[in-house]
Amino acid sequence: MSTKSKEAEDQSIDLTLRPSNWQEYIGQEKTKEGLNILIGAAKKRKETVDHILLYGPAGLGKTTLASLIAREMGTNLRVTSGPAIEKAGDLASILSNLEDHDVLFIDEAHRINRSIEEVLYPAMESRKLHLIIGKGPAARNFELDLPPFTLVAATTRVALLSNPLRSRFGVVFRLEFYEEEHIKQILARSAKLLKITIKNDALSVLARASRATPRVANRLLKRARDLAEMSNRSTIDTTIAHETLKMLDIDEYGIEPQEKKLLETLIKKFRGGPAGLKALAASSNEEIDTIEEVYEPYLIRLGLLERTAKGRTATLLAHQYIKNELQHLSLFDNPKSI
Ligand SMILES: Nc1ncnc2c1ncn2[C@@H]1O[C@H](COP(=O)(O)OP(=O)(O)OP(=O)(O)O)[C@@H](O)[C@H]1O
Ligand SMILES: [Mg+2]
Repeated sequence: MSTKSKEAEDQSIDLTLRPSNWQEYIGQEKTKEGLNILIGAAKKRKETVDHILLYGPAGLGKTTLASLIAREMGTNLRVTSGPAIEKAGDLASILSNLEDHDVLFIDEAHRINRSIEEVLYPAMESRKLHLIIGKGPAARNFELDLPPFTLVAATTRVALLSNPLRSRFGVVFRLEFYEEEHIKQILARSAKLLKITIKNDALSVLARASRATPRVANRLLKRARDLAEMSNRSTIDTTIAHETLKMLDIDEYGIEPQEKKLLETLIKKFRGGPAGLKALAASSNEEIDTIEEVYEPYLIRLGLLERTAKGRTATLLAHQYIKNELQHLSLFDNPKSI
C-alpha cells in the first residue's frame, strides 16, 4: 500500500477509535472530574460553560476531549486551529456564525497570530465582536453581539500563549501522560474495535513502548496487526510485538534513535550538561521545537533528562542507558512530572 493510502487508512481508523462518550475516555481522572463538575453546574444553572484551556503533550486526547465536552453539553462543535486562522476576518466570520451555546474548538492555540488574538479578547470576555470596516480615514468601527459560546483551546506549548489570552480562560486543565493500566485498557478496547486478537503480555510490550500516549499506542497496535497479517498469524504475541518495535526503529521504551542521539550529544559533547537548548539543538542537528515539544517531555518523564535553570542535564539513568547498562527503566514506575 502506498504511504498516502496508508495515511488515509490510519486517519479513518483514528476516527473509529476515538472515544465517543465519557465511559470510553479512559484515564485523565482529574480532568474528567473537573470537566464533569464544570459542565454539570453550568447545565443546572442553564448557563454556558466557561472557556476552557487544555494543554499537554501531543496525542494525549485534547481533540477527543473537546468533542466530548460539546457532546455532554448537547451542542455543536466548531473546529478550527491557530494556523488555519490567517486573518482577523477569518476569526470574525467563525465567531459571527456561532449559534447559542456552541463549543468553538481552537487547536494549536499558541499559533494564533497576536493581532488576530485581539479579536478574541472581547469575544471571550463580553461576547462582543469588534470589527473595523474599511481603511484609513474612511474606516468605521462596528460592534456585534455574539451568542453565548464556550471556547475550548488546546495547546502543546502553554508557555507560548500570551498572558492576556491565558487569563481569559475560566479553567485550565493539564493532560498527563497515561498510566500503564490505562494504556493497556485503551489498547484492549482498540483491539476489540479493530477485531484484533492480542495476547496480554503482547499488550504490555506495546504499552511500554507507547510513550504513555494513546495515539502512539494505537499506532503500534495497527503496525503489529500489519505484521501479523503479512506473516499469516492470527494472534499478536510478544514476538510480533517486539518485531513491530524493531520495524519502527524504536526501543522497548519507545525511545527513538534521534532521542538517543540527543542524550549521547548531551553526555559526550556537553559532559552531561547543563547545556542550553539552542546549543544542544545545533549540536544534535535537531529543531528546537521538536526537542521541546516531542523529545523532552518524554525523556523527562522517563527520568533520563532534567530541565534546570542553567539548561538541560542528563541524569545518572541516562548515563546508564547510553552505556547500555540499564537494569530496569520503566516509564510507569516512577512518573516524573512534566
Ligand atoms: N482517554 C482516551 N481513551 C481512549 N482513547 C484515547 C484517549 N485519548 C486519546 N485517545 C485516542 O488517541 C487518539 C489521539 O487523541 P487526540 O487526537 O484527541 O489527541 P490530541 O491530544 O488532540 O493530540 P494532538 O495534540 O496531537 O492534536 C484518538 O484518536 C483516540 O483514539
Ligand atoms: Mg488534536
